[in-house]
Amino acid sequence: MMLINWSDDDLVNFPILDEQHRGIISTINTLDYFIKQDWPITNLKPTVDTVIHNVKFHFKTEETILIKQNAPAISLAITRDYRMQFLNELNKHFEDAVNMSDPKGLTDYLVNWWSGHKLEYHDKLSNYLNPDVA
Ligand SMILES: [Fe+2]
Repeated sequence: MMLINWSDDDLVNFPILDEQHRGIISTINTLDYFIKQDWPITNLKPTVDTVIHNVKFHFKTEETILIKQNAPAISLAITRDYRMQFLNELNKHFEDAVNMSDPKGLTDYLVNWWSGHKLEYHDKLSNYLNPDVA
């Protein structure tokens, strides 16, 4: 059983964003797989870095679409604040997982992040993103 299951209900109707969302979920599920195979969390830093890398690409793509659509500055501020918050929180949860040798907080965080990203964050962005222009 996967930690996060992709559903067509998760589609945001931007093909590149949907593709990246699936990739992010795949990487998070891969991290969870290695954890469940009892890999020490310290050995999983490259996998965590892959999550970070994929999410950074994704944020950059969302920002690029907003700029292309001449979205208001507030929308760019939302994406930049959100990106910083994610990176800070993910790094903190990874450090906690290493220090406590307990990766559950890290995977719980990523599950909650994905839930908030697909619902609240994309709901906010939908005010600014126009699928007909992407
Ligand atoms: Fe997204």
